[in-house]
Parts: sequence; structure tokens; C-alpha cells
Amino acid sequence: MRAVVCKAWGPPDTLSVEEVPDPTAGPGEVVIDVKSASLNFPDILIIQNQYQFKPTLPFTPGNEVGGVVSQVGEGVSEVEPGDRVLSMLGVGAFAEKAKCAAGSAVKIPDSMSFDEAASLLLTYGTSHYALKDRAALQPGETLLVLGAAGGVGLSAVELGKVMGARVIAAASSDEKLAVCKEKGADELINYSREDLKDRVKELTSGLGAEVVYDPVGGELAEQALRATAWEGRFLVIGFAAGIPKIPLNLVLLKSCQVVGVFWGAFTGRFPEQNRANTEDLLAWCDSGRIKPHVSARYPLDDVAKAMKDMEDRKVTGKVVLIP
Ligand SMILES: NC(=O)c1ccc[n+]([C@@H]2O[C@H](COP(=O)([O-])OP(=O)(O)OC[C@H]3O[C@@H](n4cnc5c(N)ncnc54)[C@H](OP(=O)(O)O)[C@@H]3O)[C@@H](O)[C@H]2O)c1
Repeated sequence: MRAVVCKAWGPPDTLSVEEVPDPTAGPGEVVIDVKSASLNFPDILIIQNQYQFKPTLPFTPGNEVGGVVSQVGEGVSEVEPGDRVLSMLGVGAFAEKAKCAAGSAVKIPDSMSFDEAASLLLTYGTSHYALKDRAALQPGETLLVLGAAGGVGLSAVELGKVMGARVIAAASSDEKLAVCKEKGADELINYSREDLKDRVKELTSGLGAEVVYDPVGGELAEQALRATAWEGRFLVIGFAAGIPKIPLNLVLLKSCQVVGVFWGAFTGRFPEQNRANTEDLLAWCDSGRIKPHVSARYPLDDVAKAMKDMEDRKVTGKVVLIP
């Protein structure tokens, strides 16, 4: 089969696409024919040895797939060949075939495309856990989302609306904000030309946002914390623009909470709770309440271009590789 291979830590253009042996399913494992594999920001960090999860070289990057089960190993009862599934693998997704533990292959509804299947779990899973389990977002509360047209950001906009919040989407261009509007955002802030804190205060009668969802970090994080309401919750999701240092007095002055969100670790520690959350997401997809926004499809050979476009902030929602 053909697969993307990372042989040495480095930027996206050091990856190669090669012929490698097909995987075979061992006991408790399944092999999936990959129809679509989505790109997530951590994939770019992993190939450069800049992420907390460090695979052994050489490896095939890519975490999320949608596809069809083609082989099951001994003792597998959860799925059978021919089943349409999604799965998260850690690494190994950017290939024609991928192997995973049977328990992590989740059957998908007929209504869901493979691109959507590959684009659901990491982003919506993170946002669902963040907004429901970490922030306890309530109907009627104001939710500010930074990087709102990005992968996790757009999922937070959509889930915020499902949970009954008033959503303020903040992003760097009007084109990106138009996508957020389509996904239901109530208010829009273009932080490349508007002051984030001042605009949030204006839109909330001076009170600030009760919940802030921050996957961007960098210089925006402090502005966003200053735009957080009294006793609000500031969700630390990620650092696309770098890890910020923030004066702790702001937290005291607002009596607010800074809440860490590490979805990957949560799924390992609380698999049952995660399974229930995943069922919610699949049901919401099936009924049309949420729909992953897939904005571009690249062939496997263009993996470096896909990663570069994400690094350069050119993508909206999710992008996928088609083996
Ligand atoms: N905590 C968790 O469990 C968890 C789970 C998944 C992902 N994450 C983290 O969340 C972050 C976003 O991941 P993602 O997959 O959603 O990425 P993404 O699709 O690339 O979205 C990131 C957004 O950040 C904004 N941004 C601002 N400065 C940037 C910069 N210098 N480089 C790139 N983007 C920049 C961009 O929006 P604008 O151009 O509009 O500013 C972009 O849309 C990553 O740090 C990732 O590791 C955390």
C-alpha cells in the first residue's frame, strides 16, 4: 500500500510517500481501508517532535480516519468486514490502510460521509468535553470562541449553539467569519482589525463572556482573559500561536477560573464517559444538528501542502487527505 512516511523529525516537506507493507490485523485489532483521513494541528507538531506524544521513527503520521473495515483479527466482535467506521489511531492514518484496536473503530450512520467521519471526533470530541464537562456551559450564557473558523474552533461554535449559548466567533478574516456565521455564530469579531477585549465588552454590555474557548494562545490569550466575565471560565484548549504567559492577578480580579482541557488524556482515563459523549456527537450528526465543515481535499502526495496551508492559517474547518 502507499503511505506517508516520516523518517526523521522535520517540517512537512521532509515527509515522503512510499510503498510499504500492508498492515495485518492481530488479535483484537482491525484493518480499515482508509477512504478519508483528516489533518489536525498536532499532526504537524508530531512530525517535528514538538508534541507530548512522541512515536518511534519511522512512522506514518495522521490520527483520524473514515473508512471500511477490511480485516478483523481473532476475538473481534465489535465490527465486521464491510462496516463503515471512523477511528482515531494516534499515528498511521495517512495511508491506504490503517490498523487499530477494534474498540476504537466506531460504526457511523449511513447519512455520514467518510470525510465527515474522519473530521468528527478530535475536534467535536474536544469541544464537547470542554464546553459540557469542563465549563458546564449553560443555555443563555455567552461563549467567546477564538480561532473560530479553525478545526476545533468551528466545532465549538456549532456545539455552543446546540447547547443554547450566545456565540461570539472571533477570527482573523471576514472570509473565515462568514463560515462561522453559516455555522450559527451570533456575533463576529475580526481580531486582525478590531480590539478583541473592547469588542467583547461592547457586545456584552461591559460584562464580558461567561465562557472563553481559546485554541490560539499567543498574544490573544491575555486579551481574551481580560474579556472574560466575573466568575467566568477560560478554557485553555491549545497554542496555535504559541504558549502565552499571563499575569495571574487577572484571574483574581475576575474571580474567574482558568480551566485546562486535555481531551486525549480524558478519553484514556474515562473511556465510558467518552463513549457516551461520542454517541451524542454521532446522534447530533445523524439528525443534522452538527455537520463537520470539510473545506478542502488533498491527494496523499500533497500531504506537505495540506500541512503548510494549515500552518499558514489558510484553511477553514477541516481538511482531509484522500489516499
Ligand atoms: N486540548 C485539547 O485536547 C486539544 C484537542 C485538539 C486540538 N488542540 C489544539 O488546538 C489548537 C488548534 O488545533 P486545530 O486542529 O483546530 O488547528 P487549526 O484548524 O489550524 O486552527 C487553529 C486556528 O488558530 C488560529 N491561529 C492564530 N495564530 C496562528 C498561528 N500562528 N498558526 C496557526 N494558526 C493560528 C487560526 O485562526 P485565525 O487565522 O482566524 O486566527 C486557525 O484557524 C492546536 O494548538 C491543537 O494542538 C487541543
